[in-house]
Amino acid sequence: MGVLDYADRQSKHILRRIFVEVLRRLQTIDALSNYSYIGFGAYQFIDFDLVHRSLGIERMTSIESDDALIERCRFNSPYRGIDILEGTAATVLPTLDWSGRCIVWLDYTQRLRTEEMADVQNVALRLQPGSVLAITLNCHPGADNKRRGDLESAVGAENVPIGISEAKLGDWGLAKTQRELTTALLHRTFADRGDGTGWQQLLNIYYRDGARMQMTAGVVDDPQLHPAIQACRFEDMTEVSFDAEPVVIEVPGLTVRERQALGKKLPTRSFKEFAGLPASAVEAHARFYRWLDAVG
Ligand SMILES: C[S@@+](CC[C@H](N)C(=O)[O-])C[C@H]1O[C@@H](n2cnc3c(N)ncnc32)[C@H](O)[C@@H]1O
Repeated sequence: MGVLDYADRQSKHILRRIFVEVLRRLQTIDALSNYSYIGFGAYQFIDFDLVHRSLGIERMTSIESDDALIERCRFNSPYRGIDILEGTAATVLPTLDWSGRCIVWLDYTQRLRTEEMADVQNVALRLQPGSVLAITLNCHPGADNKRRGDLESAVGAENVPIGISEAKLGDWGLAKTQRELTTALLHRTFADRGDGTGWQQLLNIYYRDGARMQMTAGVVDDPQLHPAIQACRFEDMTEVSFDAEPVVIEVPGLTVRERQALGKKLPTRSFKEFAGLPASAVEAHARFYRWLDAVG
């Protein structure tokens, strides 16, 4: 199941591995085993498996709102340390223990709505400094002439920035707007806490396997922890971004032969058509191949 999922959804797989490498850098702040992980494991638990095996995190909570899935979730849960809680994030998040450092991944399949904004706020109100929050959202633009109306009904007309036209919501435009909305909400929420905490973005990734998706992730900063956060050297990862400029993962599906042959030319900064593959596909592969399993 997992193997099939990796093959089908290469971009998401790359995204998970990038996220885990960002998380590994938190060890400058605290032992990773002191962190707990809260996410939506669904019934495959791919992220949970990766986080547990790569980082050694043991305290894990998976929230699942779909009651038709819950029995499969319990059956497929790979480790005893995973606590599966039935309910929506909105109902479960306030019941969790927030006294320690956490990594929270709200891995939604839907677009941003007021419900997801409330979850983001719920988490941001509770996270300790040095904790991480990641949010994944669908960002498919939807039908022309309905985009602005759809966004207004999803997040509330008062939240849609002036000047957001149908054209500005096309292509990756909805992703840009959803990131702006969540980022503004995060900055507001941390400012309202009045305890010196703040939001430092680390990842702003757009990715596509079938649907257009996006992930925004960041760390909770505060003045005492700031030097330790600086010492993580997140900026050394080219996949990290601190601003609105996204990293886009759209990797082409290559054959094993193509990957082996291209591999001999990598790394490179010059991208040319190769064996019938356009230069753009070669460039997309060259940027992310090291996150994929080796071939051959
Ligand atoms: C995209 S899947 C998670 C995949 C997993 N994180 C991974 O890395 O492969 C999202 C899961 O979260 C559940 N879910 C979506 N929204 C939720 C919410 N608001 N509260 C709780 N569970 C939710 C869905 O039913 C689904 O099983």
